[in-house]
Order: sequence, then structure tokens, then C-alpha cells
Amino acid sequence: MDIEKIRYEFPIFSKNSLKETPLIYLDNASTTHKPQRVIDAITDFYSFSYANVGRGSYGLAQEATKRYEAIRLQVSKFIKAKNVNEIVFTSGTTDGINKMAQSFFQAFAKAGDQILISSQAHHSNLLVWEQWATAYQLKVKEIPTHSMGQIDLKALSQLCKNKTVLVAIEAGTNAFGTIQPVSEIVKIAHESGAKVLIDAAQWITYAPTDVEIWDCDFLVFSAHKVFGPTGLGVLYGKSEWLDKMPPMTLGGGGVLRTVPQTVFKESPYKHEAGTPHMAGVLGLGEALDFITDIGFEQITSHANSLLAYALKELRNMEGVEIYQHLHSPALPIVSFGLSGIHPHDVAAYLNESQICLRAGHHCAQPALVTEGLKATLRASFTLYNTKDEIDELIKHLKTAQKFFS
Ligand SMILES: Cc1ncc(COP(=O)(O)O)c(C=O)c1O
Repeated sequence: MDIEKIRYEFPIFSKNSLKETPLIYLDNASTTHKPQRVIDAITDFYSFSYANVGRGSYGLAQEATKRYEAIRLQVSKFIKAKNVNEIVFTSGTTDGINKMAQSFFQAFAKAGDQILISSQAHHSNLLVWEQWATAYQLKVKEIPTHSMGQIDLKALSQLCKNKTVLVAIEAGTNAFGTIQPVSEIVKIAHESGAKVLIDAAQWITYAPTDVEIWDCDFLVFSAHKVFGPTGLGVLYGKSEWLDKMPPMTLGGGGVLRTVPQTVFKESPYKHEAGTPHMAGVLGLGEALDFITDIGFEQITSHANSLLAYALKELRNMEGVEIYQHLHSPALPIVSFGLSGIHPHDVAAYLNESQICLRAGHHCAQPALVTEGLKATLRASFTLYNTKDEIDELIKHLKTAQKFFS
């Protein structure tokens, strides 16, 4: 993989490459930068072919609809969905979980049912369940995990026996980069009749996603974490469930008629009322093409080698605590701390050298508390990162230790 060529496609890096201190962006678990072709796809749509989709019968609107629907098909193929109608566009992972939750409970949950989540849950895959559980008189339980959050399958099996309607877990966690055994989790849940939602926000850029192999019932991800635009996400749901679920959003575009009585469209359209983020969808299509052109084999192997290198270099340092589960593979995320220095101080220090690293609880506070932590530093890598950048990080972490000693 020619990293220099890849970096060249990202304006943010070429703009910064001539500066005395180039940008070192290691917060890819939070969001990824955009290649020029994604930016162009969005601006071209606004500049030259803009019209609303699914409504107008004139040429411009028909063409916009055709392109929008072509990306729905592309997304379905990208995650290996059986059917294009299983793809609902949302505004992101958080929005997808919120929309799915309300509709799911109305369709499938009864008072006294149980929802199982992970102790590693991102707040977006936690708060919604807590809120709606109260409203629908359901229980939310945490599945016990091994160190750094790998789900304990035996415990899951036991818990599932107790009126479990849904298991909602992350394919890979954002706090520690732990990858969950998704297929096994789904199998166990299905044996008890529970459905499974996979939060693939972190997984989606790391390796290929195959919803048929996983056999999950629902899956969500955000476009902005796969080099696409903000404000757009995908909710995958098996047709048999999406068809039974009431519309996730109510309004124009989601109905065939309202007089003499309301008749909703088929899914996914009944779930997508309102004018969608059309430009975003086109940007996502371009981002997925960008990924496909490089190929996951290269992307995953590059991510693995950066992670291994970062871990080796961090382990060679004195005064570093690394918070990572011992099983591989893991997402290209390293959570760590410098003994005696607050992560926020280190992040502020690194920022002076244009090194972008996340510090805090990473919107997964229960995950950190489970490990006895309040905050960590988190470096997360993707296809445009290099070993040289990791060397720079290590160099500045060492000077940070001196500075704060
Ligand atoms: C595992 C996980 N779930 C959900 C989210 C929320 O994603 P978004 O803010 O794009 O809705 C994130 C974001 O970091 C995440 O890492």
C-alpha cells in the first residue's frame, strides 16, 4: 500500500505537509478525514445535479433519485446484505440506534422483557436502552466481560434464557479496541429467541462486514468514520423485521397517501420520512469506492501493523500503562496512560506539536470504570497513518514525561 499516495488524496495532510510541524492525526476512532474525491462528490451534487429525491418527476429529480438509490444498493453490497431494502439511511450511528429502538420496542417488546448490553458500550448504545426500558417496563442488564471487555459467552448464554428480547453490542469497542466474537454472540442470542443489534461504528473501517455471516438482525454505522461525510449513517435491518416495525420517522416521503386513511410505503422508505441527506449519501458512496479501490486486505494489514508497532514502542517506554485486552486481533486503538500525568495534560502537551490524540472516557465511561479508570489517552490509526507518526508520538510522550516530572 502506497501510503504517501493515499495521504496525497487527503487535502488536510497536503495542506499541512509543508508546515514546519505537520499534522499528526491519531484520533480516527472519533472521526476520519476526507479524501478529495469524497468532497468533490458532495460539491458536484450541490453544484450541478441537485434536486430532491423520491418526489419529483422531472429529469433532475429522477436522476438524483437514481443516484441516491444506487448508493443504497452499493451499501447493501458493502455489508453483504441480502436485499437492498434492508438499508435505511439515518444521520449516524447514534441516530440509527435511537430510531431502531423506538420502533423495535413498539413492534417486539413486552413489559418484563430484558435487553442485554455490554459493559463496554458507547453511550450511544447505552442511554437509549436505559431510557426506553423505563418507558416500556423492560430491564437492561450488562453482560459480564473478561478483562478489557471481551464478552463472557457462558454468562451471555445464561442471561439470554431470561426473556431476552434484544442483545445490543459493539462489534469492536472504542475505548480499548476489543473485538467481540460477533457470530458466537448472535448464535447464542438466537437460540433464546433474542434479536441482535451490532454497533459497527468502529468495526466498519477495520475489516469487511458480512451481515449474512454474522446473521445479526440489525447493524448501524456512521459515514464520517469511513472517510465519508458527517450527518449520515446506515441502519441495516433484516427485511422480515423492518417490514413489521412501525415507521421510525413520520412525515412527508414516508407515505403513499393520507386520505382517506394513511398508507405507509414499504420499508425502507416508510422509515425515511423527510428530505434525506442526499449529498451525504453520494459522499458515502464515493468513500466506500475509495475503500474498495484500496482493498480491505491492505487496510486491515496496515492497521494491524501500526497497532503492533505502537504497542511495541509503548511497551519499551518507562512509566506507560497500556489498557488492552490480551487477545488478538484488536482494532487499531491503543488506550494508555503516562504514570502520574493526567491524560488531558498529555493531550494538551501533544497538541503543541500538532499531534491529535483523544483524552478522556471516550463516551464509554462504564467501560473505563469497570477497569478502575477515569480517563485514558487514546491513539487510533487508519490507512493514512505511518510508523514515522508513531515515532513522533513516542518522542513527544518522552518529552512530556520530562516536562511534567
Ligand atoms: C462504538 C461506537 N458507537 C457509537 C458511536 C457514536 O457514533 P456517532 O457519533 O457517529 O453517532 C461511536 C462514536 O465514536 C462509537 O465509537
